[in-house]
Amino acid sequence: MSAPLRLRRALLYMPGDSHRKIEKALTLNVDCVCMDLEDGVAVSQKAAARATVRQALAELDFGRSEKLVRLNGVGTGWEAADLAATIGGRPQGVVLPKVEGPEALAWLEAQVAAAEAAQGWPAGEIGLLAMIETARGVVNLKAICEATPRLRALIFGAEDLASDIGATRTAEGAEVAYARGAVVMHAAAYGLQAIDMVYVNYADGEGLAREAAAAARLGFSGKQAIHPKQIEVIQAAFAPAPEAMAKARRVLEAAAAAQAQGLGAFALDDKMVDAPVIKAAETVMARARAAGIAD
Ligand code: COA
Ligand code: MG
Repeated sequence: MSAPLRLRRALLYMPGDSHRKIEKALTLNVDCVCMDLEDGVAVSQKAAARATVRQALAELDFGRSEKLVRLNGVGTGWEAADLAATIGGRPQGVVLPKVEGPEALAWLEAQVAAAEAAQGWPAGEIGLLAMIETARGVVNLKAICEATPRLRALIFGAEDLASDIGATRTAEGAEVAYARGAVVMHAAAYGLQAIDMVYVNYADGEGLAREAAAAARLGFSGKQAIHPKQIEVIQAAFAPAPEAMAKARRVLEAAAAAQAQGLGAFALDDKMVDAPVIKAAETVMARARAAGIAD
């Protein structure tokens, strides 16, 4: 079995200058809490947001939620101060927006490694999550995935991508289908998680449920969220359904029996089962264990 999966079904943002929303996030049983210093924060509030995030990291109990900070992008002139002001609070991961190539991640890798060494923290513990939300980010995905072993996940940003390529966002999302597919494909090829776009209409729970279920079928491991209402819907969509778990268990039991008889391929319910089907069943069960719904 591979290393236990870090659950990243819902990744909730809140503006880093909102202490109230950070505190609220900790009551929501959400997999990832991402305190934003980027687009959710007004230019005039950047410094205040850094201080609020730093204090939250030091003083609040995040429980089972992963503590993440989103910096401003490399080249904005804010990124170094964002990191310097917050890394001492020991976030579990750093989200870098608008990653366009390996250089931005190499810069962040060096900064985070230096902070770990200076603080005496275990090397490589703090994860990096790269946002892919520009045309260059999409065409450079391979180099981005190869930039650093510290990379844990790719996060797809649909609104920024659409504006970068001159597309108009639609409900069906044909304009972002290529980029979403590329993100899932690269994440899978490099053993990373893939986290899908925000559903901005947060009052529409049904639309969100449909989009989240479709993303799970495409291979995404989670979805970004911007409002507390979205969390349960998203976390349910990315946890394996009971039927999927029951089927995975049957496949794994039958596979063990077949292996014992020296059979690599065998039939179950009139369908062929071989290595890729068994691997998919193992992935379902790993996700279920990470979600706390299977032993
Ligand atoms: N995280 C934590 N708590 C949140 C939240 C979030 N993202 N969004 C709303 N809440 C809280 C509100 O504070 C409120 O709680 P309270 O009454 O105890 O203060 C409750 O949930 C209901 O919120 P609601 O009144 O429906 O929304 P709002 O008008 O306060 O905020 C938004 C609406 C869109 C501004 C807000 O959801 C938000 O800030 N989202 C994240 C924006 C962001 O970070 N963008 C950048 C990344 S894409
Ligand atoms: Mg963005």
